[in-house]
Amino acid sequence: MTISLEDPTPKRCPSRFLTPAAKASQLDGIREFYQYETDDVISLLAGRPNISTFPIKGISVEITDPHHPEPSSGPTTTLNLKDDELRTAIQYGATNGVPALIKLLEGFQEIIHKRPKGSWNVAMGSGCQDLIYKALASTVQPGDPVLCEAPLYAGVLPGLQNLQAVCFEVEVDEYGLSAKRLADVLANWPEGQKRPRVLYTNPIGGNPSGTTAVRERKLEVLKLCVQYDILILEDDPYYFLTPDLVPSYFELETEVIPQGGQVMRFDSFSKVLAGGFRLGFVTAPPELLYPIEVLTAATNLHAAAVSQMIIYKILTHWGVEGFLANARNVALFYAGRKGWFEEIAHRHLDGLARWTSPVAGLFLWVDCSESGVKNTSTFMYQYGIPHGIVACPGASFYPSKAPSPHIRVSFSELPRDKAEEGFKRLAEALRHYKSDQNNA
Ligand SMILES: Cc1ncc(COP(=O)(O)O)c(C=O)c1O
Repeated sequence: MTISLEDPTPKRCPSRFLTPAAKASQLDGIREFYQYETDDVISLLAGRPNISTFPIKGISVEITDPHHPEPSSGPTTTLNLKDDELRTAIQYGATNGVPALIKLLEGFQEIIHKRPKGSWNVAMGSGCQDLIYKALASTVQPGDPVLCEAPLYAGVLPGLQNLQAVCFEVEVDEYGLSAKRLADVLANWPEGQKRPRVLYTNPIGGNPSGTTAVRERKLEVLKLCVQYDILILEDDPYYFLTPDLVPSYFELETEVIPQGGQVMRFDSFSKVLAGGFRLGFVTAPPELLYPIEVLTAATNLHAAAVSQMIIYKILTHWGVEGFLANARNVALFYAGRKGWFEEIAHRHLDGLARWTSPVAGLFLWVDCSESGVKNTSTFMYQYGIPHGIVACPGASFYPSKAPSPHIRVSFSELPRDKAEEGFKRLAEALRHYKSDQNNA
C-alpha cells in the first residue's frame, strides 16, 4: 500500500515495521523490574555480584586536547572514574545503556541533527554493528525482501543471510544509493511478490563505494521510502569524517514526514574515539527500540559499561563542541591521507584502473575494467596475491556475490612507502593480467 505525499500523513505507529515475533517480545522477569529500582526503594531484585570483591579500584584514561594544533603530540588530560562512576563502570547495568550517557547522547542528537526530543530515544549497543543486526532481526522474517544498496558494507551480509532475508540490490552512483534506481525497483516490483519494508544504506563515505549522499539525494530517497512505507536503516559510522557535516536521513526525514519514524539511525564511536570500545548507538522511535532491548537482554545483557563510562567521561569533559573538534581533526587526518594516497595511486594506476575520489570514509573503490578485469576475486588469487598484494575483491560487497571488476583499497593505515610499493605491485599485477588476456 502506498500513501500520497499530498495527503496530510496520518500518524502511524512505528511498530508497523516489526515482525510479529518482535511485536510480541518481552523483557525477562528480572529486567522488567529494573525500572522500579529507584533511590527510595529497597531492592532485593538483581543477582548482581558485590563490587567490593572486584580487584579494580580505579580506571583512568589519558586523552588529547582536540583544540591543540597537533592533538596527537600536544598536552594530554587524565580523566579518572571514581566512586559512583567507577561503580557504574564495573557493575552490571541497564539493558539500553548507562542512563547518564544516553541522556547526554540524546542531547547531542538534538543539536547535531536538529531534531527536538519527543518521538525518538537513544539506546547503546556493542558497536553499531550489534544494533544493526538486532534491528534487522526485529523487522525481517525469513523470506522477506530487504532493499540493500549495492555495493554494501559486507559486515551486514552474514546477518541478512542468517535471517534468511531476500536481498534486492539497489545500485549506488557517485552520490550513494541511486534514487532513480530505487524508484524504478519500487515502481516495477513483481506483482504478487511481498513488498520490501526495510532499506539498508551507509550514506556517508560508503563502505566500500566511498560515495556520500548529499541533502537532495537523501530527500529523494526519503520521499520514496515514505511513499512506499519503507523503514530506512541509516548506518552512518563515517558521518563525522566529512570536512563539513552532511545532513543525515534522521535530520531530513521530518521535511518529508513531519512526525518522523521512517528512519533508524546508527552511530558509532569506532572511527572517532576507539574501535576497541565496541560502542555504538541507535536513534529511533521507542517502539522500534524495545525489541532491540529485548534482544540485548537475551544476548549480551548490555554494551560494556566500562566503555560507556569512559566515553561518558570524555564527552562530558569535551562537550559537543570538543567532540566535534576531535571528529573534525579525524576527518582532516583522513582527508590528508586520502590526498597523498590517491596521488600515488594515480601515478601507478592511471590507464589501468579508475575510481571516484571519496568525500569521506577510508576507502577507494577501484574499478579495474580498464585492464579488462571482470572478476577481481579470481584476479586477486591468480595475480594480486602472487604479486604480493592483497585487497578485498568487489564481489564480497554484493549480496549476490556476482563477479565484480572492483577492489576495495583502504587508505587508513598504510605508510607512504608501503602505499607506493603496494600500488606498484597492483599495477604490475594488472599489466600481467592484461598481457595474459591479450596473448590468450
Ligand atoms: C558501514 C559500516 N557499518 C558498521 C560498521 C561497524 O561499526 P561498529 O564498530 O560501530 O560496530 C563498520 C565498520 O567498519 C562499517 O564500515
